[in-house]
Amino acid sequence: MRKKYALVGTGSRCRMFYEAIAKDYRDSAELVALCDTNQTRMAYTNSVLQEEFGAGPLPTYKAEDFHRMLEETEAETVIVTSIDRTHHIYIIAALEAGRDVITEKPMTTDADKCQQIVDAVERTGRSVRVTFNYRYSPHNAAVRELIASGEIGEVFSVHFEWLLDTKHGADYFRRWHRDKRNSGGLMVHKSTHHFDLVNFWLGSQPETVFGMGDLRFYGRANAEERGLFTPYTRTTGAAAAKDDPFAIDLTASPVQKALYWDAEHEDGYQRDQNVFGDGISIEDTMQVMVRYRNRSVLTYSLNAYAPWEGFNVSFNGSGGRIELMVRETSYINGGGDKEQEGAAEGINLYHFPLHGTPRIVPVDTAEGGHGGGDNRMLADIFGKVNSAAGYAASYRDGAMSILTGIAANRSFQTGLPVEVEELVKLPRTS
Ligand SMILES: NC(=O)c1ccc[n+]([C@@H]2O[C@H](COP(=O)([O-])OP(=O)(O)OC[C@H]3O[C@@H](n4cnc5c(N)ncnc54)[C@H](O)[C@@H]3O)[C@@H](O)[C@H]2O)c1
Repeated sequence: MRKKYALVGTGSRCRMFYEAIAKDYRDSAELVALCDTNQTRMAYTNSVLQEEFGAGPLPTYKAEDFHRMLEETEAETVIVTSIDRTHHIYIIAALEAGRDVITEKPMTTDADKCQQIVDAVERTGRSVRVTFNYRYSPHNAAVRELIASGEIGEVFSVHFEWLLDTKHGADYFRRWHRDKRNSGGLMVHKSTHHFDLVNFWLGSQPETVFGMGDLRFYGRANAEERGLFTPYTRTTGAAAAKDDPFAIDLTASPVQKALYWDAEHEDGYQRDQNVFGDGISIEDTMQVMVRYRNRSVLTYSLNAYAPWEGFNVSFNGSGGRIELMVRETSYINGGGDKEQEGAAEGINLYHFPLHGTPRIVPVDTAEGGHGGGDNRMLADIFGKVNSAAGYAASYRDGAMSILTGIAANRSFQTGLPVEVEELVKLPRTS
């Protein structure tokens, strides 16, 4: 018996899931329906399913017909890949209807919505899984194994710097993410990956969070201060944007044209807004400190306008130090032939025992997005053999990773540290 899935949110990310179901896992999984607010994007998804995978066309349902979709198609699990601020709507509705959920990160965007999800899981006893693909990247998995096997003893501190470049990083300032109400800002939308990794690496959870964040690079006021004036609200078709390195042309990429340019007449969503325009309410420069239940302390930074993309992380422990440096390929959603966000280009993992000889830790290289994490995660979700036991992220992991970012957002506003347990009441683990 194949498991029946329905998919909500047919933008660029959903392809990873429908391609996996239609191609590699068609023996164990079946996609039975699509749901979105935009009919053009659903029609495009159906055309790809038919032309590239010989599947479908699938029945399409507008957002208001979500319940009817569940009834008519008997979907057992709902995959949520809509914009972040809508995740909780579908997660809770699916759980209440007796379905399980696989949701894209971030699980949701603020503490109230998070509490609603936690309560719905407790009430219904159904499952919510959050797709933290970075956990599955071989280099990130190797760090977890090094720490768990006691190679550096007890971990006292973590220093973690993530860089988004002026291609991928800039993209968040063109899209719906630029409005904090949609995404929770990069502290939630993006850093949920990073804070989940720290929870996963340390096997602990955040307790106290303090942060400072600001918009310093993108946005009109910053551009004007630097003597830059860009007289357009969007960049496709704007003659004045022709030589702007931050401009994109939605008609230049067949996928972006089909998903966004041709779909605008339905909802007015413009995917190519000027990154130096007005109306940006998210930060691009963020520094955060976190203390964990196990007394480890994290210093973390995220900058969204760096010349290269990737991260450096180091761990200091009672028995030594680990350093991981990863350079990633930059990429824009829907802009290229193959979705390769986060593909690793250069990986260096070092282990420095306290009194021993430093060594380079060999790391497998894996094909695909997020340093090979996407493919390993898909195998874990849809495959028959579970080769990554302990890697699946639950609603609790989803909550713990966003709560660091939600607490940081609060700290940005108040200038004060925030106690994570005051944000959301989670059932205690035994
Ligand atoms: N894990 C990862 O590495 C990764 C990578 C990219 C995106 N994502 C996540 O995937 C999700 C989608 O991102 P994307 O890049 O595909 O964005 P996108 O803008 O391409 O697609 C979003 C889709 O949601 C739809 N939508 C908007 N409001 C809706 C509503 N009320 N009901 C139903 N559908 C609605 C839009 O019409 C659109 O089709 C986000 O939550 C994002 O964080 C995760």
